[in-house]
Amino acid sequence: MSTTDAPAMRSGQPLALGQRLLRSRVLAALASPHGVDRYLEQVNPMWAAHEVRAKVVDVHREVDVPGHPPVATITLQPTSTWRGHRAGQHVQLGVEVHGARRTTRVFTVSSPDSRHGDRFTITLRANPDGVVSRFLVEEATPGTIVHLSQAEGDFVLPDRVPEHVLFLSGGSGITPVMSMLRSLQRRTHRGRVTFVHYAQSPEHQIFADELDRVRRSGDGIDVHLLHPELGDPNLSPAFLERLVPGYRDVPTWACGPAPLIEAVQAAYDGSEALRVEYFKPPRVADAGTAEGSVAFSRSGKEAPNTGASLLEQAEALGLKPEFGCRMGICFSCTSRKSEGTVRNVLTGEESSLPDEDIRICVSAPVGDCVVDV
Ligand SMILES: Cc1cc2nc3c(=O)[nH]c(=O)nc-3n(C[C@H](O)[C@H](O)[C@H](O)COP(=O)(O)OP(=O)(O)OC[C@H]3O[C@@H](n4cnc5c(N)ncnc54)[C@H](O)[C@@H]3O)c2cc1C
Ligand code: FES
Repeated sequence: MSTTDAPAMRSGQPLALGQRLLRSRVLAALASPHGVDRYLEQVNPMWAAHEVRAKVVDVHREVDVPGHPPVATITLQPTSTWRGHRAGQHVQLGVEVHGARRTTRVFTVSSPDSRHGDRFTITLRANPDGVVSRFLVEEATPGTIVHLSQAEGDFVLPDRVPEHVLFLSGGSGITPVMSMLRSLQRRTHRGRVTFVHYAQSPEHQIFADELDRVRRSGDGIDVHLLHPELGDPNLSPAFLERLVPGYRDVPTWACGPAPLIEAVQAAYDGSEALRVEYFKPPRVADAGTAEGSVAFSRSGKEAPNTGASLLEQAEALGLKPEFGCRMGICFSCTSRKSEGTVRNVLTGEESSLPDEDIRICVSAPVGDCVVDV
């Protein structure tokens, strides 16, 4: 029997006593400056005292339409340092693609609530120009090791689930609400659930078979799978009112591409019943209305402000600032702003402090701005 198969270990981990020893300060001092986890990783990548890593145990193609980016569900066995997740949360996931430096992106957990050391899944679309999603969908195989954060995010169901919940999603934005739906089913939730999802076509529908089974189950879950390109109604107040009368007062979780989220926000008109999750930051101003110019001082480049995030404006000028999540979560794009005002595209907050560290992926300039990129 190999070391990882030993029955006394959970998730390939040493015994609990060993875990306490591995986390002790004495060992940390002895292992300095690299830390205990660096040494454990060399012996067995599934051994960890503090960090979270995971082994890919399955890669399942969910959607494979010729000429379109495929979608896959990846099952991960984390180290026992994984503390579990609440449905709707995401993880930062790092991979060393073809031996290059680790690249980290954020993915939502698509399986139901998990506990310490439990297996879980992520479901992702392979971005044709992307580094991490393409690698995971097209090249990862059982045994591939990935690096993880603990689960994060507050786009979750409350402990006391409301009597009626409404889920609205589009494209790969289905992942957090699917995790919630699966959790409610597992908890045998007795209330009403309305699940509305937009996909390009029935062939592009993620989790199609499972949602079909849910629809037929008669468990009080109304599933509406819509394809506007084939004539189904677009998301509008009139459509929502027909589907769920008084929808603005029904606790709602929405996730999907920017146009869908914009339509949902307009339909809910500021209602506190709506919670949204973005995979990409929304735009705060159009090129026509943005003012001033943006200077990237380290590279000596300057251009008129387009209203996009500073990261996108830098990339448009051919610069390659470091980034990870592109959503203000991982801090890897943090850069020094020496002059000007920026608006956080997620919160709308403005900041004019000089010599301030900002996350350029979620900061859009308001007028002239100078950043050390
Ligand atoms: C909270 C959250 C949850 C998420 N959950 C999911 C999920 O469940 N499923 C899912 O599929 N995705 C999810 N995402 C999106 C995911 O994190 C990745 O953004 C996506 O998979 C693309 O990553 P990538 O490494 O493949 O592409 P990247 O390498 O990051 O490239 C993505 C795009 O960035 C732009 N870009 C990159 N580099 C440059 C450059 N130098 N110049 C100009 N443009 C550039 C391009 O437009 C490119 O197409 C989530 C994101 C967030 C923030
Ligand atoms: S790229 Fe993650 S915070 Fe900006």
